[in-house]
Amino acid sequence: MDNALRVSVFGAGYVGLVTAAGLAAIGHHVLCVDVDEKKISSLTNGEVPFFEPGLPEMISRGVASQNLCFTSSLTMAIDHGQVIIIGVGTPPLSSGAADLSQVLSVAASIGMHIQHRAVVVVKSTVPVGTSELVHEAIQDELDRRGDSVSFSVASNPEFLKEGDAVRDFMVPDRIVIGVSDEWAGDVLGLLYEPLCKSDGVLMTMSTRSSEMCKYAANAMLATRISFMNEMARLSDIVGADICEIQRVMAADPRIGSKYLNAGAGFGGSCFPKDLRAIRAMGIDFDCDLPLIESVIEVNTRQQTVLIDKAREVLGSLKGKRCAVWGLAFKPDTDDIREAPALHLIHALLAEGATIVAHDPVVQWLPMYSSLSPDLFHIVDDPYAAIADTDVLFLVTEWSEYRTIDVQRMTDLVGDGVIVDGRNIWAKIDFTRTDVAYLGIGRQSNVEQVRETYAVELAG
Ligand SMILES: NC(=O)c1ccc[n+]([C@@H]2O[C@H](COP(=O)([O-])OP(=O)(O)OC[C@H]3O[C@@H](n4cnc5c(N)ncnc54)[C@H](O)[C@@H]3O)[C@@H](O)[C@H]2O)c1
Repeated sequence: MDNALRVSVFGAGYVGLVTAAGLAAIGHHVLCVDVDEKKISSLTNGEVPFFEPGLPEMISRGVASQNLCFTSSLTMAIDHGQVIIIGVGTPPLSSGAADLSQVLSVAASIGMHIQHRAVVVVKSTVPVGTSELVHEAIQDELDRRGDSVSFSVASNPEFLKEGDAVRDFMVPDRIVIGVSDEWAGDVLGLLYEPLCKSDGVLMTMSTRSSEMCKYAANAMLATRISFMNEMARLSDIVGADICEIQRVMAADPRIGSKYLNAGAGFGGSCFPKDLRAIRAMGIDFDCDLPLIESVIEVNTRQQTVLIDKAREVLGSLKGKRCAVWGLAFKPDTDDIREAPALHLIHALLAEGATIVAHDPVVQWLPMYSSLSPDLFHIVDDPYAAIADTDVLFLVTEWSEYRTIDVQRMTDLVGDGVIVDGRNIWAKIDFTRTDVAYLGIGRQSNVEQVRETYAVELAG
């Protein structure tokens, strides 16, 4: 490629690794660096440290073309990059604010070692004003060294979705760059040129707008989820069906069809932490954000919806055998950060239930897999998880569960309970089975099952 740039990517996580492999795929010379030496050594050995469809293939192609290399040497990465991308973690502090220590530590390292002109790009999700802090941190170290090196700091938030990250990178619907000087804008224009096949994909703005738009976009999506969960709760009470309401809403082009599924609340590595970070920004800047507060509150309340549904039928779950299908926070990823399944498992164990779980990809839960297998274990066959179960909780809508053998599932659950946390079996008629089936925000067949029992008992 004529305009190939030397790029360093700090962080080999979900964002850093996809970015590094994606930029290598479009012809740049990319060095990806991480402080986690185990991660770098598995990548060097051709192993991808997490599950993301299409990513292993893209990494292999990048390595084979010699456009993609890995290192744990921060100085080597700083020496390499004309563009230095920061894609490290920004986990929440106990206040909810984003912890910028990883980002600022990379910035300090850059200031300590940089010898050539570069654009430093903040890709991590960060509060408004962070690009300025990164600039200061680099400049402080240069001043300490008594050196003068020209550099720019730009913001370039990431919008990829885990599970679809490769496609999101290669066919972006928008690439946002926030810059404070023309040169940085030109360099990032070159960096992303091969991906900007249609007009309007590249959106250039101030660093503050760029930082803010990532939070605004995630807050909007989270708001839709909480809104639908609230409508589901009301539908449950008034006897309406949220699936029908969703269908009608989705037909309205002003609303659109995405993010309208009711469920057990949003989880994952972004929405919960980003919502808390916006709330913290509101406090910092003395700006009331009542809508954001409500979105968080509705989501917290929703985390108990699955166990509450099971209690409607069984009362206490003490001593009950429970099956949990779906541990990842959404399908097509192995990410369990703040996954709804974790809240459910925590509540079930606290109530004295035992759990057999299944997930097509997640085979280990750090907090629970070390418990006695009598209390919690993960099996690799979904049907094995539901043998003799009292309740089956469907938490994550993997396609494997959508296409499950319903006859086999209902035979195994017998006269137990199915709580369908994503309404994926809403179209199935469970009235001819002994299963008590409950969805979210819609009528269940529980009354009918109870009547059948009553007739049988009377007979
Ligand atoms: N995961 C997503 O879907 C997603 C989407 C958009 C934006 N983001 C944002 O992108 C950022 C990264 O998220 P992630 O999910 O990739 O995180 P992650 O935890 O998967 O990866 C972060 C990586 O950074 C490494 N790291 C920490 N300090 C480092 C340093 N000084 N030098 C080099 N590497 C270092 C860690 O070892 C880790 O491998 C976060 O701000 C997140 O909010 C994430």
